[in-house]
Amino acid sequence: MNVTVIGTGYVGLVTGACLADAGNHVFCLDLDERKIRTLNEGGIPIFEPGLEPIVTRNREAGRLRFSTDVPASVAHAEIQIIAVGTPPSEDGSADMQHVVAAARAIGRHMDGYKVVVTKSTVPVGTADQVKHAIIEEHKKRGRGNDFTVVSNPEFLKEGAAVEDFMRPDRIVIGSEDPRAIAMLRQLYAPFQRNRERIIVMGVRSAELTKYAANSMLAARISFMNELANLAEAIGADIEEVRRGIGSDPRIGYQFLYAGVGYGGSCFPKDVKALQRSADEAGRPLKLLAAVEAVNQAQKHVLAEKIKQRFSENIKGKCVAVWGLAFKANTDDMREAPSVALIDDLARAGARVRAYDPAARAEARKLFAGRKSVEIVDTAEAALEGADVLAIVTEWQEFRSPDFRALRKTLKTPAVFDGRNLYDPAALKAEGLEYYPIGRKPE
Ligand SMILES: NC(=O)c1ccc[n+]([C@@H]2O[C@H](COP(=O)([O-])OP(=O)(O)OC[C@H]3O[C@@H](n4cnc5c(N)ncnc54)[C@H](O)[C@@H]3O)[C@@H](O)[C@H]2O)c1
Repeated sequence: MNVTVIGTGYVGLVTGACLADAGNHVFCLDLDERKIRTLNEGGIPIFEPGLEPIVTRNREAGRLRFSTDVPASVAHAEIQIIAVGTPPSEDGSADMQHVVAAARAIGRHMDGYKVVVTKSTVPVGTADQVKHAIIEEHKKRGRGNDFTVVSNPEFLKEGAAVEDFMRPDRIVIGSEDPRAIAMLRQLYAPFQRNRERIIVMGVRSAELTKYAANSMLAARISFMNELANLAEAIGADIEEVRRGIGSDPRIGYQFLYAGVGYGGSCFPKDVKALQRSADEAGRPLKLLAAVEAVNQAQKHVLAEKIKQRFSENIKGKCVAVWGLAFKANTDDMREAPSVALIDDLARAGARVRAYDPAARAEARKLFAGRKSVEIVDTAEAALEGADVLAIVTEWQEFRSPDFRALRKTLKTPAVFDGRNLYDPAALKAEGLEYYPIGRKPE
């Protein structure tokens, strides 16, 4: 099939590449000329495991095109997938300007039937907004064509995006139009060969499903973080509690880790956007307001522990930070807890030497001009001259460091672990002070 993907970011590029890999002819559109140039020159603008070979082989096979040519992108395919960003606006609601602009461009240039698929995470009612934008463009032209708007939210996780797209848990299609549903069934057939994964529902339910899923996951994280802080205060161990409750199949082990709060491009903005929609509907979501507040506070817990260790005076201290990305296996630093930690430390007069396996370029952009923050190229280099170590991202390469070397290198042998990566007893045995989240400090 011919498919156009509008917006070639984390979601659009993965979607385009995976659809091309299934044999489709995919036109990836973006307005960012630099991004398109990078892709056409064989580069990949994002770090996503397993993505590069798929992009390369499909580009070379002529099934995957990257372009800024809007009329050509509309002409290319009946299926137009919108995967542009929906960042938060000032008031927390999702900023729909890119989605509406993409819809208008389709309306302006279409010349035949189109299925317009919103894959971006969008508030309930967006399908109607997209429809109106297209109709308005038709009116301006004095003619129009038949089209359908379908909601098809994306559930992939950064860091495992290719795997998630190729083997999805579910494919939600919000539509009541049999023709559009049939086309999307055909498009997704290669990704659900061993069992049916498509769930067809109303457009509004599909739009809400995406926010509901992310909000539920965010709620689990905030619940565990709040419980972790309590556990610490009353002498319990959140890791033991996690095993104790995760073993209940109604609860399960996933997304039950205490830490430094959630970040990334999705949970924070989606929790806020759903709250905003609920407020507008006159049905405020009290639970989500708490989820959000707990998360904001949790991002400062590690800095507080470091300050407490030095009796509130860390002026002139140097903190090594391992991990900058909001989670492992990505270079994405949007709303990353590392940024809150580094800001807190800098405000208190400390210096930071930080390392991340994938997010260094991003971090250098973000902290450009900040004298107290240095981004270095190895985990060992981050420790040079450092007083203590803080761990913010659960990268595999941080899981089993040389503890003896750590103790020798750090001026104060203290590890502040925002991801509970280590066994407290083992660190104590190595002569290291250990400050995890929700566990008894050793
Ligand atoms: N990143 C994730 O893990 C993830 C997962 C599921 C859903 N989502 C949702 O998918 C959407 C996209 O997220 P992302 O992380 O890929 O965003 P992104 O910022 O990485 O990419 C968006 C891209 O769209 C381009 N763009 C903006 N307006 C355009 C237009 N009018 N025409 C063509 N291109 C345009 C931008 O230049 C950018 O390259 C968001 O709504 C997000 O909430 C993201």
